[in-house]
Amino acid sequence: MNNNSVTEKTKNLIKNKKFIAKAINHNILEDLGFFVIKNAFPLDTVEKFRMNFLNLFEKKKLHKTKQHPVEVKIEGRKLFEKIYKDKNLKKIVKGFFNGRVGSDFFRIVKKDYKNSSAVFCHQDTGYQMGNFDRFSLFISLTNNNNLNGGMVIYPSTHKFGYLGDAGEISKKITKKYFKICPNLKEGDVLVMHSALWHESNKNFKKTNRIYLEIHIQNLDDPNTKYNIIGKSKKVIKPLFDRNNIFSNSRVSRIIKFKKQIRLLEKKYLINDK
Ligand SMILES: [Fe+2]
Repeated sequence: MNNNSVTEKTKNLIKNKKFIAKAINHNILEDLGFFVIKNAFPLDTVEKFRMNFLNLFEKKKLHKTKQHPVEVKIEGRKLFEKIYKDKNLKKIVKGFFNGRVGSDFFRIVKKDYKNSSAVFCHQDTGYQMGNFDRFSLFISLTNNNNLNGGMVIYPSTHKFGYLGDAGEISKKITKKYFKICPNLKEGDVLVMHSALWHESNKNFKKTNRIYLEIHIQNLDDPNTKYNIIGKSKKVIKPLFDRNNIFSNSRVSRIIKFKKQIRLLEKKYLINDK
């Protein structure tokens, strides 16, 4: 794989708008690392999820995750778990993983008038566990585009694989590749390989930009929590929990060092007085 082989084929597919249709073309998805399904969910379904979410969010029963720019956790809420039984979702995922499709998490990713920051370029692989081929389905609960901080993607960059760490990809690298922000209407779905580089701009319009993100993976992955399609045990219990898989992780070490620094600062500040 070199820069040109990504760029030439990719540019043609993008120029001819091959990434957008009413049903997924899996060959194109494999080439580009993303696909847009138009009108994948009817507007009444979209409105139901959006209103339920906004209602709970405004009543402060749901909150943006601290330290995360856009995430609102909704797991454990039966109201939203209904999405896994939705026939339109089953229709979207049936062409993945030989028809055995599960999920390990789902969430809302939201920007609005108050929380409108840009998100730096990254790939999701370093934040996830399990097999390499996994995808996020971003269901547009609002019209999402370049003006309100819609998802921006770097086509075909998933072909570079896992980059070996999580975090911001250097602009010295990303500037060599082109990027697009698909103009999504309510009910459209952006399907994205988890290794694809992506970012988002500031929400200039300050209107709601809401995606319901469903992360899909092979049903047999050890951390599957939800069955979407394919036979499995009635109750799925993940073999691993991402919160306690490491006894000593990079993140836990950082937290430990920060605590030690705080203690030292406290000690020396007290001694200084
Ligand atoms: Fe991401």
